[in-house]
Order: sequence, then structure tokens, then C-alpha cells
Amino acid sequence: MNFKVLKSKIGFVAEVFGIDIRQNISKDYVSEITKLINEYAVIILKNQKINDEEQIKFSENFGTIEPAGTNTELTEMKDRRLSSQMNDVSNLDKNNKPLAKDNQNRIFGLGNRLWHTDASFKKKPVTLSILSGRKVPTKGGETEFCDMRCGYEALSKEMKNKVENLICEHSLQYSRSKLGFIMKDVLTKKELEKFKPVLQPLVRKNSITNRKSLYLSAHIGLIKDWELADSILFINDLMEICTNPDYVYAHKWEENDIVIWDNTQVMHRGRYFNDQKEIRDVRRTTLAGTKMLIQQ
Ligand code: OGA
Ligand code: MN
Repeated sequence: MNFKVLKSKIGFVAEVFGIDIRQNISKDYVSEITKLINEYAVIILKNQKINDEEQIKFSENFGTIEPAGTNTELTEMKDRRLSSQMNDVSNLDKNNKPLAKDNQNRIFGLGNRLWHTDASFKKKPVTLSILSGRKVPTKGGETEFCDMRCGYEALSKEMKNKVENLICEHSLQYSRSKLGFIMKDVLTKKELEKFKPVLQPLVRKNSITNRKSLYLSAHIGLIKDWELADSILFINDLMEICTNPDYVYAHKWEENDIVIWDNTQVMHRGRYFNDQKEIRDVRRTTLAGTKMLIQQ
């Protein structure tokens, strides 16, 4: 397979050449890509002009798709722009018009601008995310990635010991409250049930490469058995370490790019663009996790 590592100093982000994901892909090819994802954590494929069906079919090579819009979204099925297999990361409403400034779904979506890993608030957290850029803005709207393996490796021995067995509570309520979106003020008790915190370890180990990584996300609100203020400060410190510019890659989107990332090893965030004037139609498929990391 032909590829180039874009941040070769730290072995992070690989651009793969000579693939057309609309074609059937052989098992061998899938395992080669999987190997690259384990090693480089973010994969970029250019010039993949696809529709939703083709994205779903390609994604299914890597496992089972985690459906969107079932239990962790505000949008009701009837109001969705895309099918439940697709995660709508665009700034558009059902009629393909930019969401108004004060629209709740827009505010909710702005959570993607905080450093996070996808769906770490699920008991079985998701693994890969596959994002397709169907229409991208002329200015801004990059997606940034940071390598949480480098973040872990940068810790002192003492800090490595300290983080080793810590457990964090993750919930969409925590990440959205950081933007002033207080879910308990707008949702019913029954709806809130879906957003109850789940437990995840703070350190993960990749079973193929054996590299350890921090497992951070904006969805973290608390370290188990810690005071809230201590938790916030400690997680902020780790976030700062992981997002050191040396460990960050900014993807400047071109139409028909596909970016695949491994949520077990990287965090990501979207960057500002003028979402009232420009259209950014990016669509995500997400691969379901197969196991709980902490029994709960
Ligand atoms: C996502 C996400 C950021 C972006 O698709 O999960 O957070 O740049 N996207 O759109
Ligand atoms: Mn995301």
C-alpha cells in the first residue's frame, strides 16, 4: 500500500494513495488499512466522491455501524436530514439551509469544537470515525487531531503511575454544559436518563502496537472518587499536555476528502468557520465498540 506519513517525527497521520472506496475492497486491503490506523491513528483519503450508501458500505468493512439519532441526540428521527446510519456533522437543517444562530441543534453541534473523542459517553465506546467532506467552506472549518499516545509518553514516571488506574465519568451533559447548554434545564427527566454518565479508564493500551494512550474527552466531568474541582484541574492539565502543537495535526478540508480516525488514540475538534454564510456538509459513520472497558 502506498502512503505517506504527514507528521513523521511522531509517526502520526498517514495519507493513503491509490484507493477508490466505491470499489469492493479485499479482506487483505482492509487489514492493511486497519494496521495503518492502529499505527498512525488518523488516515486521509483524497478524491473519494461518494454518496451515503457508499460510505456505509465502505465503513462496514471495519465492523458494525453505531447508529446515530437513537439515544444520544436531540433531533427526532422525523427531523433528521440523513439516515440513522449517518451522523450529521454539518451546519444544515432538513432543507439544507444553515441552522439559525440560536437553533438548539446548532448549539448542541458546537460541542464538536471542543477537544473530544467520539461517543466516549457510551458504555461500549465507539472505535473508528469515518468523516466524509461533501461540501466544505472556503475559509476555516479545519478538523484538528491530537495524539494522546504522545501525551501519555510525555508524562513523568510519577504521573504515569498516578493516571494508571484512574476512572473517569463521561457524559454529553458535561461537554455541553461547558458551552452553557444545560441539558437538565431543557430535557425531561426521561430524556436525561439517556445521558447518565458512564465510566471509562483514563489510560488505554492498543492491543496491536502495545502503545499506551490517555483516553480524554470533553465529555469527562469527574474522576471517580475525586473532588470535582480537583478532577477538572487535573483533566485540564492532561488536555494541555496532549494538545501540545507538536502532537497536533490540522486537516484543511478539500471536497471529497475522507478522514478516518481512531477514537481510542486521538482527540479531535472542529475549528471555526462562518456557519451562517457558508455550507459545511460533513457526514460521519462511526464504528461501534465491541466491549465495555469498565464493567458497569
Ligand atoms: C465529528 C467531529 C469535527 C469537525 O465528526 O465527530 O467532531 O471538524 N467533527 O467537523
Ligand atoms: Mn467528534
